Amino acid sequence: TPENAPPQVGDILVYAIGAKMNQPIQVADLPEAGPFQLAFPMDPKTSVVRNKQLNNTLLVLKLLPGSYDPKLVAHVAEGVVCYSAICTHLGCTVSEWESKPQMMRCPCHGSVFNPRDDTVVSGPAPLPLAILPIRLEGSQIVVAGEFLGPVGAQV
Ligand code: FES
Repeated sequence: TPENAPPQVGDILVYAIGAKMNQPIQVADLPEAGPFQLAFPMDPKTSVVRNKQLNNTLLVLKLLPGSYDPKLVAHVAEGVVCYSAICTHLGCTVSEWESKPQMMRCPCHGSVFNPRDDTVVSGPAPLPLAILPIRLEGSQIVVAGEFLGPVGAQV
Protein backbone atom coordinates (compact mmCIF):
# COMPACT_ATOMS: atom_id res chain seq x y z
CA THR A 1 0.00 0.00 0.00
CA PRO A 2 1.15 3.62 -0.40
CA GLU A 3 1.50 3.97 3.38
CA ASN A 4 4.03 1.12 3.39
CA ALA A 5 6.02 2.18 0.34
CA PRO A 6 9.55 3.46 0.90
CA PRO A 7 10.23 7.18 0.41
CA GLN A 8 9.60 8.16 -3.21
CA VAL A 9 11.35 10.91 -5.14
CA GLY A 10 9.10 13.96 -4.88
CA ASP A 11 7.64 13.06 -1.48
CA ILE A 12 7.43 15.94 0.99
CA LEU A 13 8.67 15.53 4.56
CA VAL A 14 6.01 16.01 7.23
CA TYR A 15 6.19 16.07 11.01
CA ALA A 16 5.94 12.54 12.44
CA ILE A 17 4.83 13.59 15.92
CA GLY A 18 3.57 16.59 17.85
CA ALA A 19 0.99 19.30 17.26
CA LYS A 20 1.97 19.65 13.59
CA MET A 21 1.88 15.91 12.87
CA ASN A 22 1.36 15.17 9.15
CA GLN A 23 1.94 18.81 8.18
CA PRO A 24 4.86 19.70 5.92
CA ILE A 25 8.00 20.69 7.78
CA GLN A 26 8.94 24.30 7.03
CA VAL A 27 12.67 24.78 6.62
CA ALA A 28 12.49 28.05 8.56
CA ASP A 29 11.04 26.18 11.54
CA LEU A 30 14.10 23.93 11.89
CA PRO A 31 16.41 25.33 14.57
CA GLU A 32 19.99 26.02 13.51
CA ALA A 33 22.32 23.20 14.60
CA GLY A 34 19.47 21.06 15.88
CA PRO A 35 17.63 19.51 17.55
CA PHE A 36 16.23 17.34 14.79
CA GLN A 37 12.60 16.73 13.88
CA LEU A 38 11.20 13.25 13.35
CA ALA A 39 9.56 13.04 9.95
CA PHE A 40 7.75 10.81 7.47
CA PRO A 41 7.53 11.13 3.70
CA MET A 42 4.16 12.17 2.25
CA ASP A 43 2.94 11.76 -1.32
CA PRO A 44 2.06 15.34 -2.31
CA LYS A 45 -0.51 14.20 -4.87
CA THR A 46 -2.60 12.03 -2.55
CA SER A 47 -1.48 13.44 0.83
CA VAL A 48 -0.87 9.85 1.94
CA VAL A 49 1.72 9.85 4.73
CA ARG A 50 3.96 6.78 4.47
CA ASN A 51 3.92 6.08 8.20
CA LYS A 52 2.95 2.40 8.24
CA GLN A 53 6.53 1.33 7.59
CA LEU A 54 8.86 1.80 10.55
CA ASN A 55 11.87 2.09 8.25
CA ASN A 56 10.33 5.25 6.78
CA THR A 57 10.91 7.12 10.04
CA LEU A 58 13.28 9.97 9.27
CA LEU A 59 15.06 12.65 11.16
CA VAL A 60 15.77 15.98 9.61
CA LEU A 61 17.93 18.78 10.93
CA LYS A 62 19.68 21.96 9.93
CA LEU A 63 23.45 22.09 10.23
CA LEU A 64 25.43 25.29 10.57
CA PRO A 65 27.38 26.35 7.48
CA GLY A 66 30.89 24.95 7.63
CA SER A 67 30.09 22.68 10.57
CA TYR A 68 29.90 19.46 8.62
CA ASP A 69 32.29 17.12 6.89
CA PRO A 70 32.91 17.77 3.18
CA LYS A 71 31.70 14.26 2.39
CA LEU A 72 28.18 15.39 3.33
CA VAL A 73 28.13 18.45 1.09
CA ALA A 74 26.33 16.71 -1.76
CA HIS A 75 23.54 15.64 0.59
CA VAL A 76 22.96 18.91 2.44
CA ALA A 77 20.55 21.50 1.04
CA GLU A 78 20.98 24.93 2.62
CA GLY A 79 22.10 23.18 5.78
CA VAL A 80 19.26 20.66 5.85
CA VAL A 81 20.16 16.98 6.01
CA CYS A 82 17.93 13.92 6.38
CA TYR A 83 18.82 10.59 7.97
CA SER A 84 17.00 7.35 8.65
CA ALA A 85 15.84 7.52 12.26
CA ILE A 86 16.04 3.74 12.68
CA CYS A 87 19.00 2.58 14.71
CA THR A 88 21.28 0.13 12.93
CA HIS A 89 21.68 -1.87 16.16
CA LEU A 90 18.27 -3.39 16.91
CA GLY A 91 15.98 -0.97 15.13
CA CYS A 92 14.79 1.43 17.83
CA THR A 93 13.93 4.98 16.80
CA VAL A 94 16.83 7.38 17.34
CA SER A 95 14.79 9.95 19.23
CA GLU A 96 17.13 11.75 21.59
CA TRP A 97 19.20 14.86 21.00
CA GLU A 98 22.33 15.82 22.86
CA SER A 99 23.25 19.47 22.64
CA LYS A 100 26.88 19.54 23.81
CA PRO A 101 28.23 18.47 21.44
CA GLN A 102 25.27 18.05 19.11
CA MET A 103 24.63 14.35 18.65
CA MET A 104 21.75 12.01 17.92
CA ARG A 105 21.19 9.24 20.46
CA CYS A 106 19.30 5.96 20.46
CA PRO A 107 17.40 5.50 23.75
CA CYS A 108 17.55 1.70 23.69
CA HIS A 109 21.25 0.94 24.17
CA GLY A 110 22.81 4.36 23.88
CA SER A 111 24.33 4.41 20.42
CA VAL A 112 25.39 7.95 19.56
CA PHE A 113 25.50 9.24 15.98
CA ASN A 114 27.25 12.37 14.73
CA PRO A 115 25.04 14.28 12.28
CA ARG A 116 27.96 16.31 10.97
CA ASP A 117 30.01 13.44 9.55
CA ASP A 118 27.54 10.51 9.49
CA THR A 119 29.48 8.30 11.89
CA VAL A 120 28.76 6.15 14.95
CA VAL A 121 30.46 7.86 17.89
CA SER A 122 29.77 5.22 20.52
CA GLY A 123 27.52 2.32 21.38
CA PRO A 124 26.69 -0.99 19.72
CA ALA A 125 25.32 0.32 16.39
CA PRO A 126 27.40 -1.35 13.63
CA LEU A 127 26.72 1.25 10.92
CA PRO A 128 25.91 4.94 10.65
CA LEU A 129 22.37 6.10 9.89
CA ALA A 130 21.55 6.05 6.18
CA ILE A 131 21.29 9.43 4.51
CA LEU A 132 18.15 10.14 2.49
CA PRO A 133 18.95 12.64 -0.31
CA ILE A 134 16.69 15.70 -0.21
CA ARG A 135 16.26 19.01 -1.96
CA LEU A 136 14.36 22.12 -1.01
CA GLU A 137 11.31 23.39 -2.87
CA GLY A 138 10.44 26.75 -1.43
CA SER A 139 9.97 26.17 2.27
CA GLN A 140 9.46 22.42 1.94
CA ILE A 141 11.83 19.46 2.04
CA VAL A 142 11.48 17.03 -0.84
CA VAL A 143 12.89 13.53 -1.24
CA ALA A 144 15.50 13.49 -4.03
CA GLY A 145 16.62 9.85 -4.08
CA GLU A 146 16.78 6.49 -2.34
CA PHE A 147 18.47 5.86 1.00
CA LEU A 148 22.25 5.80 0.71
CA GLY A 149 23.02 2.68 2.67
CA PRO A 150 21.15 0.06 4.64
CA VAL A 151 18.19 1.04 6.84
CA GLY A 152 17.18 -0.61 10.10
CA ALA A 153 18.79 -3.25 12.32
CA GLN A 154 22.02 -4.62 10.82
CA VAL A 155 23.07 -7.20 13.41
FE1 FES B 1 19.78 1.55 19.15
FE2 FES B 1 20.41 -0.71 20.44
S1 FES B 1 18.70 -0.32 19.16
S2 FES B 1 21.47 1.17 20.45
